Amino acid sequence: MSSQSADPLAADTRTIDPLAADASIVPSPTPKAPGAVASDHGQAPEWWRDAVVYQVYPRSFADADGDGMGDLAGITAHLPHLAALGVDAVWLSPFYTSPQKDAGYDVADYMDVDPRFGTLADADELFARAHALGLRVIVDIVPNHSSDQHPLFQEALAAAPGSPEREMYVFRDGRGEHGELPPNNWTSIFHGPAWTRVTEADGAPGQWYLHIFDTSQPDWNWENPEVRAMFRDVLRFWLERGADGFRVDVAHGMIKPEGLPDATVNSEGLIDIPDGEVPVYFDNDGVLDIYREWRPILDAYPGDRMMVLEAWIPERRLPLYIGAEKAHQSFNFGFLQARWDVGALRAAIEKPLALADAVQSPTTWVLSNHDVIRHASRFGFPPEHSFGEGLARDEEPDAALGLLRARAASLLMLSLPGAAYLYQGEELGLPEVREIPDELREDPAHKRAGVPGRDGCRVPLPWLHDAPAYGFSPSGRSWLPQPPEFADLAADIQAEDPDSTLEMYRRALSLRHELELGRHERPVSFLEGLPDGVLGVGRGDLVVLVNTTGRSVRVDEDPRFAGARVLIASHEDDATGLRALPADTTLWLSTAGAR
Ligand code: NOJ
Repeated sequence: MSSQSADPLAADTRTIDPLAADASIVPSPTPKAPGAVASDHGQAPEWWRDAVVYQVYPRSFADADGDGMGDLAGITAHLPHLAALGVDAVWLSPFYTSPQKDAGYDVADYMDVDPRFGTLADADELFARAHALGLRVIVDIVPNHSSDQHPLFQEALAAAPGSPEREMYVFRDGRGEHGELPPNNWTSIFHGPAWTRVTEADGAPGQWYLHIFDTSQPDWNWENPEVRAMFRDVLRFWLERGADGFRVDVAHGMIKPEGLPDATVNSEGLIDIPDGEVPVYFDNDGVLDIYREWRPILDAYPGDRMMVLEAWIPERRLPLYIGAEKAHQSFNFGFLQARWDVGALRAAIEKPLALADAVQSPTTWVLSNHDVIRHASRFGFPPEHSFGEGLARDEEPDAALGLLRARAASLLMLSLPGAAYLYQGEELGLPEVREIPDELREDPAHKRAGVPGRDGCRVPLPWLHDAPAYGFSPSGRSWLPQPPEFADLAADIQAEDPDSTLEMYRRALSLRHELELGRHERPVSFLEGLPDGVLGVGRGDLVVLVNTTGRSVRVDEDPRFAGARVLIASHEDDATGLRALPADTTLWLSTAGAR
């Protein structure tokens, strides 16, 4: 915890009268010694409840060996950046042995490191260095499917229909006179049928296997106790090595409905998914038993090991997954999908907070990850652009507006109780990269359906403005091309600029820890009677004002803010100073001692 004043709201931030136009509102961050421990926050019991977790996408974070793909040694070398940023934990996307057909979410060996990323010794080194810096480490576990190169899938292919080897995965005979039709009408999340037919040992077309994702990602058969036992071992393997928790991939997917019934299809022949519901192969009750089975395994280790679920489920189902004998928390994707609009943002805060009360577990907040358009670009689209549309080829977001709103949205997120998950590069305000030649795109969704896919949010990070590959790799190689605008967004430039996005994040994280904003004990209230387009969130003496409009809005006449001090702003508008709330800006105001 910072050594500043015991009353954080009375901390050494400049006193600001909303009418004092010349007030500088973003105090310089307190420099941290290189390698300093981020905070003692991460050591607290049930640390995950209010942690700020930073997602590292290993192939794009930092490349130590110069092959153009990030690696574990690169991550270890840059951990001090994360400690200085002030996060509590690091979540590592998969780094296991994998043919990389889905960037590592196609695992061929759950208990080893892919040579592209390093070795198990490198993983041990990363864990040790992170822990020495006060950072927890969450690893990604991918239990719904493996790679088709997993030895057990290869054995299943070589074995006969009905064999125990085939029982490890979901093999079925096809329909039609000669089994030439898939066993049911399910479609893959990455487009096209969810079934692929195999050739049997005698060379004849044979059974079909299920893959909810790419053909290279066969689904495990979780009805088979051997699969369950294998994953218990995988958990223990990483817990023994020091993992502080797991991010569970497709956490709502492992159990399929009995009999694998056809899904209802709409008039276009696509699986019909009513609003707020999920495809037939997700969120089946049997999946809940898996978390009941896993929880005691985690609890048997010291240090509050946790699991966070990637479960795209209807909100009403959350209490079934989360709780004392179930999973610890689940991503709340509603906030990420909210439009830049007071009503939408308020609902996206109120609903998960109510649910958090119901499940007695704080919610999580997330604005970006490796599967969605980076929020610095997403917010640059007109409000009618729906989240699900993706980044079509002919769409160009307004970059400046997107960044302005993204900073404001981030500052709102970091003021809320619960855990916050950041995606690498959002602290630099990185945009989605559009200019990627198709032949370099690796997302299986692009390969299967020709859509641009998710590569645009996975471009390697810029660390140094004037180094080859912007400091990502010593050789200057980069598995995806970095655009020229990354030079000005590089971490080294931003570290020198008090107005940069990086400095805003550092300052916000430091205040968040100091003010204990992650804690649920400081309930959220909403301020009524604010000008149109302004959201007001109260956290005791702290008021968070979000101006979602494109014009500055006067707040100085509101007696509730008289004498309030601005602790941090997502944007400072020289013309208006603090008489008004600048367009598309969030402010944190301390009203302690205000008139
Ligand atoms: C969710 C992961 O976040 C995504 O990147 C991956 O493609 C799918 N699960 C399949 O594992």
